[in-house]
Amino acid sequence: MSDIADHRFEYARDSLELADLDPDPLRQFHDWLMDAAEAGHLEPNATTLATAGADGVPSARIVLLRGIDERGFAWYTNRTSPKGQDLAANPRAALVFYWERLERQVRVSGAVSVIPEDESAAYFAGRPRKSQLAAWASPQSQPLDSRVELVAATERYAILHPEEVPLPPFWGGYRLLPERIEFWQGRRSRMHDRFVYLRADGGREARPGSAPGEAQGEALGGPSTIGRRSAGGAMWRIVRLAP
Ligand SMILES: Cc1cc2nc3c(=O)[nH]c(=O)nc-3n(C[C@H](O)[C@H](O)[C@H](O)COP(=O)(O)O)c2cc1C
Repeated sequence: MSDIADHRFEYARDSLELADLDPDPLRQFHDWLMDAAEAGHLEPNATTLATAGADGVPSARIVLLRGIDERGFAWYTNRTSPKGQDLAANPRAALVFYWERLERQVRVSGAVSVIPEDESAAYFAGRPRKSQLAAWASPQSQPLDSRVELVAATERYAILHPEEVPLPPFWGGYRLLPERIEFWQGRRSRMHDRFVYLRADGGREARPGSAPGEAQGEALGGPSTIGRRSAGGAMWRIVRLAP
């Protein structure tokens, strides 16, 4: 690619219609995640996590999705990290998935809660031993003098925990309960298909735009809106968005 300003790609693989969408956005997401795995993405569960702390400064990084069910989208990390500090100050976040081979994007946003310790411990127990030791040894995102320092720290923790490695008190999961989930399918000539599911039963975002807190309890209906009840008991409306 000699000049990114001239780089063009026609999305021509698929389309998305209201009739294609599952009434439950979480099932719809799961279907797309499975499609992404089948299409050969090496880490289809990789997602960009955006947070903002008390200062309002946005920050984004990739994490791996480690659970998806009616409770929401789960990932694990060091809670003293910058993202952990952001979430402690402002427990709201957005996730973005991009599956290039399918020309699909999914955007999710909502409130974030800390996963209970017993659940984090069960997840941590299933990780490879070396990853467990690295979690103990790494003060994530703090300055590090050298790699040697990090390796030495993991060796110290290996001696300290010769058998089972316990869950570090500063490590664990978060779960985002979606209020808004948008599915984007690339089409030719930037005429992309976009549908957003908006939580219509008390979520903070009830408008297609992302301004929170407005239009709560808005009547279901309208040309591009279909009221549906998901498996988790949540009420969602689906709106087509201009690309
Ligand atoms: C493909 C990929 C997967 C990653 N998965 C995780 C993860 O699940 N948890 C995590 O804490 N960091 C993960 N990271 C590292 C983060 O992107 C980031 O560097 C780190 O968490 C520090 O972020 P922070 O300083 O914003 O807190 C991953 C990075 C990549 C590229």
